[in-house]
Amino acid sequence: MSDPVSISRRKPVTVPRRLQRFLALDDFEPAARRLLPRAIFGYVSGGVENNASLNANRNAFNSMGFRPRILQDVSERDQTTRLFDEDIASPFAIAPMGFSAVAAFDGDVALAKGAAEAGIFAICSAASLTPLERVAKEGGSRWFQAYIPGDDNRIRPLLERLKHAGFDRLVVTGDVPVASNRENNARNGFDAPFRMSARLAWQGFTHPRWSIGTLGKEIVKRGMPHFENMEAVQGPPLFSRDLVRSTIARDKLSWDHIRRIRDLWSGKLIVKGVMHPGDAVAASDAGCDAIIVSNHGGRQLDGTVSPLRVLPQIREAVPEMVVIVDGGIRRGTDVLKAIMLGADFTLVGRPFLYAAATHGIPGVAHAAKLLREEIDRDMALLGVTSPFALRGEQSVQLD
Ligand code: FNR
Repeated sequence: MSDPVSISRRKPVTVPRRLQRFLALDDFEPAARRLLPRAIFGYVSGGVENNASLNANRNAFNSMGFRPRILQDVSERDQTTRLFDEDIASPFAIAPMGFSAVAAFDGDVALAKGAAEAGIFAICSAASLTPLERVAKEGGSRWFQAYIPGDDNRIRPLLERLKHAGFDRLVVTGDVPVASNRENNARNGFDAPFRMSARLAWQGFTHPRWSIGTLGKEIVKRGMPHFENMEAVQGPPLFSRDLVRSTIARDKLSWDHIRRIRDLWSGKLIVKGVMHPGDAVAASDAGCDAIIVSNHGGRQLDGTVSPLRVLPQIREAVPEMVVIVDGGIRRGTDVLKAIMLGADFTLVGRPFLYAAATHGIPGVAHAAKLLREEIDRDMALLGVTSPFALRGEQSVQLD
């Protein structure tokens, strides 16, 4: 006989009909693969070169197991997580993702609104195609990820623009001194600046739901997409040849700039892309409030180890600092494994963009709900009432 508890658990009545077959974050990926042209899906799903780091991110989670405790009275479970001065409904949020608006209609606002509906937040990317002011106003977003130019004269006005828009959490991504070698983009025809080719036109023709419902609607409602948020002023349009020029000098960026930003920025300052305990200490010395341990979802230097692998050493190097981690998190158990190894908070990228692409705001909120329910169920099965009760618990390494 099947287990009646597992059957009653799904309760699909509260879920919109078109989302009822989405039972896990990974269910959004095949749906997005069908919807999106190959160039766009490849851009979102892909890693870099041989995808070694992309695969390592998942493998690290799969190679680790739990030793659950039983009979612990787990009836009062609570996953609310305090991050800085704020209570977040769950210990995860949505990672910054550039070009979201070409994958999902009004993608940046959809991610922010869907996250807000679920009591979490989405970090607006510097490579977003929506004016950051609109993301802050309509999406209620406080988190912005900047690609800071290595030039002080350009940094100050950008910070002023962010502050004026209402952002008070600034994430500076440090692992993109140069563009990475994403051969999959070149092979699929996804290149910035965009160049219309017969191949891309064919992909658009064979994916009419995306061409009309996403890109077409975006252009009709909001005009030609621009890089809106790279600097203090609007950047070039997606199809512009000036794009390369507008992103130069990032390879000049150093910890000196971070120290100067610290002096100028009164909000929270977070550095993303930390993978070495030495850089965690550098961030702490520079006065940062938090770090994001990340290999950019395996999209920058191929061969970079999984963030999960370096998390314990980094936790040890900066015991007092807020440590956030991302890369390959797809399940409630993954979130809990990261917390067990020292994370205070986690981010999830691709699945939320797939959910925004296929189902807009309700899709994002549903994806967050799925992950939240998994965490709740997993806590009970692990014998804890808070994710943070797992901190320091010994996991079992399977390899
Ligand atoms: C990213 N990522 C990213 N990071 C960042 O700091 N700025 C950015 O603009 C982007 N853009 C971006 C676009 C897309 C399509 C993806 C998939 C990722 C990296 C992102 O913030 C995060 O580190 C990873 O996505 C986390 O890994 P998972 O959850 O996607 O496996």
